[in-house]
Amino acid sequence: MDRKEVLVSGADIARQREFTAKIKAMFQARGAHPTACVDTFGCQQNVADGQRLMGMLEEMGFTLVSSPEEADTAILNTCAVREHAEDRVFGNLGALSHAKRANPEMVIALCGCMAQEPRVSARIKKSYPYVNLVFGPQALWKLPELLWQVYESRRRVFSVEDEPGRLAEGLPVVRDDSVRAWVSVMYGCNNFCSYCIVPYVRGRERSRDASCVVEEVRGLVASGCREITLLGQNVNSYGNDLQNGCDFSDLLEEIDRIPGDYWIRFMSSHPKDATPKLFSTMARCSHVAKQLHLPFQSGNDRVLAAMNRRYTRERYLELIRCARAAMPELVLTSDVIIGFPGETEAEAMDTVSLVREVGFDALFTFLYSPRPGTRAAELPDPASREDKQRWFDTLLAVQNEFSARKHAAYVGSTVRVLVDGKSDDPDYPLSARTEGNRLVRLRGGEKLIGSFASARISGSNTWALYGETEE
Ligand code: SAM
Ligand code: SF4
Ligand code: F3S
Repeated sequence: MDRKEVLVSGADIARQREFTAKIKAMFQARGAHPTACVDTFGCQQNVADGQRLMGMLEEMGFTLVSSPEEADTAILNTCAVREHAEDRVFGNLGALSHAKRANPEMVIALCGCMAQEPRVSARIKKSYPYVNLVFGPQALWKLPELLWQVYESRRRVFSVEDEPGRLAEGLPVVRDDSVRAWVSVMYGCNNFCSYCIVPYVRGRERSRDASCVVEEVRGLVASGCREITLLGQNVNSYGNDLQNGCDFSDLLEEIDRIPGDYWIRFMSSHPKDATPKLFSTMARCSHVAKQLHLPFQSGNDRVLAAMNRRYTRERYLELIRCARAAMPELVLTSDVIIGFPGETEAEAMDTVSLVREVGFDALFTFLYSPRPGTRAAELPDPASREDKQRWFDTLLAVQNEFSARKHAAYVGSTVRVLVDGKSDDPDYPLSARTEGNRLVRLRGGEKLIGSFASARISGSNTWALYGETEE
């Protein structure tokens, strides 16, 4: 697609501002003080989208509230990655019917990844008549226009066309955390891993201009933000669509030149596109945290091919060796799926053996969940739920042992941490993160929140480190 067609034009953005102004004026004329809630499920990309939705709602004159039941306009920003995520949303929608009965003027909207699935929008159309608006991730920037249609016509609005997606710059944003921020560098996914719904609901890969990303990060650093996570489904393919030679490593390098005391993280990286250039750039850039989230999904070559991941176990291990050679202190995390259709016990144990071989600091483990519309959902799946659960438990036990051992190795050392908030543990009232993104429960004064500190690590378990600040 031509870059001009990908970028939402200034005129289109101006049109949305007109709808924003109309909605604001409408409420003012009624003397109304409307409230809105964006309830976000799913990944950080969705959280970042939710912050844009909140930004647009605030500009329309809404006061943001935290519970959808209390809101005049409630938006459920949904995730479709696993069946469980979808079930939760349908449950929440059901609960909202009571709020709508109490407040018939209430507007209920469903957006995000689930909204883009044809079978979901059909179900909403048929069985959830009190949902006023359904729009997919590609239509997010049009929220003012879509809401105006709902308010004006009181008809149900569905904006769920199957679009490759566009890029809208300059949308307002509400960030609830002043210490840490999410910045999307690209949207969509072209990879079509056979189990995954994301490419079907988030459109094609499109990268933001490096200058826009750099300016956003610069603004965040200037406002005191200390940790910025760059987001994309596969940040390693950043720039492929820009045709100006700028790749993700170049983007990191440019961001790193912004002066200030801050950490840059990024996720996710796809192993098929991770390169030695990325690792040497990470090693060289002082602001880039020496931490890598590199999902491997399976340790067995047959399963990897069936997943359409386009790398082998050996290639993955080679990447890890290369990354560790460039950054000996690297903290490594990954995603893994157990129970892909047709996976045997021996194949699942190859995944467990890869976990042992690499020694990850932490792992996000998932039981395979069939997603209608994906290729894997059509495959025979003979293994029983009980067998898959057993393999999963084996994997978890191995990883927990590694996590505990890795954490124990910090005890007695002093590490630099970013204090990012309060914790729920009265003995360790602060929550902090190491450069490798390990959670630290910390003793110290609240005035440290938002700053880097030196922490003496005195204890650990599988999930966290414990320490005292050196004032
Ligand atoms: N783009 C990222 C990547 O490829 O690494 C992953 C994004 S996906 C939203 C997050 C994780 O969810 C994946 O890495 C995968 O482990 C898991 N996942 C995706 N589809 C799944 C499915 N159908 N069942 C179980 N887990 C799934
Ligand atoms: Fe899904 Fe694969 Fe794309 Fe990640 S890279 S979002 S797992 S299709
Ligand atoms: Fe994220 Fe879920 Fe969509 S993981 S990209 S919100 S399907």
